[in-house]
Amino acid sequence: MKFSPAGRPFSLKIRLTFFISLATIIAFVILTSIMLNSVKNHFAEMDVKDLNKIKMTISSILLNPAESEAQKVEKISVILASYRHISVLLLNSENQMLYQSPDGPNLLPILKTRNFVESLKSGKVFQWRDATLNSVSQDDNSQKVYRIIAASASAPYHDKNSTCTFVVSFSIDFHLHYLDELKYNLWLIAAVMCLLIVLIVLFAVHKGHTPLRHVSMQIKNISSENLDVRLDPEQVPVELEQLVISFNHMIERIEDVFTRQANFSADIAHEIRTPITNLVTQTEIALSQPRSKKDLEDVLYSSLEEYNRMAKMVSDMLFLAQADNRQLIIEHTPIDLRAETLRVCEFFEAWAEERNVTLDIRGHAGWVAGDALMLRRAINNLLSNAIRYTPEGQSVQVTLSNQDEWVKLVIANTGVVIGPAHLPRLFDRFYRVDPARQRKTEGSGIGLAIVKSIISVHLGKISVESDKVSTRFTLLLPRLIS
Ligand SMILES: Nc1ncnc2c1ncn2[C@@H]1O[C@H](COP(=O)(O)OP(=O)(O)O)[C@@H](O)[C@H]1O
Ligand SMILES: [Mg+2]
Repeated sequence: MKFSPAGRPFSLKIRLTFFISLATIIAFVILTSIMLNSVKNHFAEMDVKDLNKIKMTISSILLNPAESEAQKVEKISVILASYRHISVLLLNSENQMLYQSPDGPNLLPILKTRNFVESLKSGKVFQWRDATLNSVSQDDNSQKVYRIIAASASAPYHDKNSTCTFVVSFSIDFHLHYLDELKYNLWLIAAVMCLLIVLIVLFAVHKGHTPLRHVSMQIKNISSENLDVRLDPEQVPVELEQLVISFNHMIERIEDVFTRQANFSADIAHEIRTPITNLVTQTEIALSQPRSKKDLEDVLYSSLEEYNRMAKMVSDMLFLAQADNRQLIIEHTPIDLRAETLRVCEFFEAWAEERNVTLDIRGHAGWVAGDALMLRRAINNLLSNAIRYTPEGQSVQVTLSNQDEWVKLVIANTGVVIGPAHLPRLFDRFYRVDPARQRKTEGSGIGLAIVKSIISVHLGKISVESDKVSTRFTLLLPRLIS
């Protein structure tokens, strides 16, 4: 990932514009270079062709034995007069100058160069810059660069045979001029096009990000007052669909937590207000007239019971708050879940007997790692519920088993069926299936919430099913592999 100097990734706009522009600029540079090169090569090929043609013409004139040297020179000069950019230097076999084009450059210095010797041997065309002119004038019209070909040809006259050497030069300044101009124009056009493309890309990217800004605007308008707002995944481009769906899920969870939190505060207030009202009323009645010591003791005992319940509820809530804030410190000792279950059952035996409910414990299970006190508390809550809701004369089934990498504990009881509407909310704080009835009996609906917290700090799972056969709470805890 690329980072700007501030440490934040570069904006999408800059990235897209940068890469698209880079690709366009590279494409233009390559295209322009190819075009310029091809024009340059084309000119070179044409020049070589022309030079060879002139070389052949001069050779064939020199080869005519019927004409004298002077006649040949005359003929050559006449022909050359019509070629504006061509100049010729002609030497006889003694290396004396027979002819040099009057308007052309001084070609004599070429005779000393290595290129000349090579061209004479192989007929290769080479490029030559007239250094004398270069220093004298920088005038644009002055001819400076030439393509040169050198050749020797036999020039017989009657019986006398001799060999002439000649150099043909072709001024390519006008080609170079044209190429320079073409180069300038092409690069200018390429630069303007690149700039235009960058601007168009910038605009396109800005436009392309409109849905993103739109979504961001919608999100910005969501506050705690309208957490029920959902974004429509059908209304955004397909690339944003997943983002919108994920956002909707997130807001759904937040809304859920938010409402639970709001309800939780209301529930706490309600749960505490009721016993306090009871205490106040009870105390007021007790004080309304003189009472015997015995009566006052009774009132105090009754109040003590209520205080204990409140204290238990407050400590339960504290426990849940600690679990919420991940402040629960749990020990990780190996625990025999069956032994722990049996211990809890033993504790409830007397109460169960009193209610004429039997406890039926079956199966074996492996060990788990965890906090014995907390797990006991969880089993305790589940078992006390089961015993409480089991009709007289029936039994509570506790089954232990191993399931893959889990240890499974099922606590099942017969009796009232919990409706499917209640099942998902059963582990919520203060949730009771029948609040009116249960408030009077016992429990504030916090027991299962505590069980759930304990099981989740042990990385386990809890679920509940209820049908005509029974209500079953299933605990899964990670098995300790020894
Ligand atoms: N074994 C069970 N059989 C039937 N209903 C149950 C059972 N366990 C829990 N419930 C229902 O779930 C509600 C929540 O249970 P819990 O959190 O333990 O609260 P409580 O303090 O009322 O026991 C109870 O009020 C009851 O309606
Ligand atoms: Mg309970």
